[in-house]
Amino acid sequence: MARRRAPTAFGARLRERWLERRNRLLASPRFQRWAAGFPLTRPVAARRARHLFDLCAGFVYSQVLLACIQLRLLPILAEGPLPLSDLAARVDLSEAAAERLLRAAETLGLVERRTGGAFGLGAQGAALLGNPGISAMVQHHTMLYADLADPVGLLRGERRRTELGGYWPYAGSAQPSSLTAEHVVEYTALMAESQALIAGDVIDAFSLRHHNCLLDVGGGDGTFVSAVAARWPHLRFKLFDLPPVAARARQRFAREGLSARAEAFGGDMMTDPLPEGADLVSLVRVIHDHDDDSALAILRAAHRVLPPGGTLLLAEPMSATRGAEPVGEAYFGFYLLAMGSGRPRTPAELTAMLETAGFTRIAVERTRRPLLTSLITARASRG
Ligand SMILES: C[S@@+](CC[C@H](N)C(=O)[O-])C[C@H]1O[C@@H](n2cnc3c(N)ncnc32)[C@H](O)[C@@H]1O
Repeated sequence: MARRRAPTAFGARLRERWLERRNRLLASPRFQRWAAGFPLTRPVAARRARHLFDLCAGFVYSQVLLACIQLRLLPILAEGPLPLSDLAARVDLSEAAAERLLRAAETLGLVERRTGGAFGLGAQGAALLGNPGISAMVQHHTMLYADLADPVGLLRGERRRTELGGYWPYAGSAQPSSLTAEHVVEYTALMAESQALIAGDVIDAFSLRHHNCLLDVGGGDGTFVSAVAARWPHLRFKLFDLPPVAARARQRFAREGLSARAEAFGGDMMTDPLPEGADLVSLVRVIHDHDDDSALAILRAAHRVLPPGGTLLLAEPMSATRGAEPVGEAYFGFYLLAMGSGRPRTPAELTAMLETAGFTRIAVERTRRPLLTSLITARASRG
């Protein structure tokens, strides 16, 4: 992996001085006023001001989106454009309230004006409808936002119980294998709903043609396995997850006629051995849930069951993803803090952990939408 050369002491001092100067300038109201008027700086100033306002107002935009989803506005508009009065009646709002919501949603690209003043589905609204996982994510964010109402308290560890901690009970549990079906049903459904795009992007990024058996660790209700099975009919599967989650996977495999190719095993991956016999292990959205010690223990457990030269697929959203930087550090950083364990990691951090766990030939593969998932492949060392 190419490493960036460390700056010389002189270069570092020069940079620090330039950054101090830049910040003094940017903080100066006189400079701001000038930059907003001068033709060459005006577009940059406008972009920065808009970005700053979006930082301040992001929560409000999210709540506009939540209202659209709770009122099922987007599926209604997907049937065709409607005049305001009809729409207001369909979503049970006064015309004034519906107009307020629609005008807000229009500026966010969720809806758009059509001929005769009717409202139709906007480009972002259409994209969102194409991925039902997003609506489910938005709805469960009400818990995240409740937990983030006091972000400093959360950072200081002053909140002993968080809503997300209750939603993801394994995150804070000393004995996750004692969780019941009731504890896992909601998060497992959310994971299944948001898995479709991820599975597709992982399968597109890495060919499984030359593998025989995939073990999906923390595989949820088998949605990932089922997508891989459809693409690669020669593969057999093992799935490992907490007992009530594995039971759901077993049901899915039976429902989809996969029982002859796919087995589900229930247990605790921190204490129970993983099933042997696979030449490929996948960890999809699993490692970022865990603090460093546990994450390393999972990687070591995966290494133990792979034959020499066997392959590991590690797929999850990662930090330092170009073009999606806040998704890793800001969104997942605070999401996982509220959940109670784990952290987002850069490919370099994951690579170092994989090396410690005994893997070699570690490569970051290109995925279609790294914002959703990045992919690292690695080989189990020989001996
Ligand atoms: C974030 S979900 C990801 C599920 C699936 N891989 C996906 O991407 O949709 C993490 C999964 O790890 C499982 N898990 C968490 N702790 C576990 C443990 N100690 N032993 C076994 N499975 C565990 C959870 O039940 C859950 O299904």
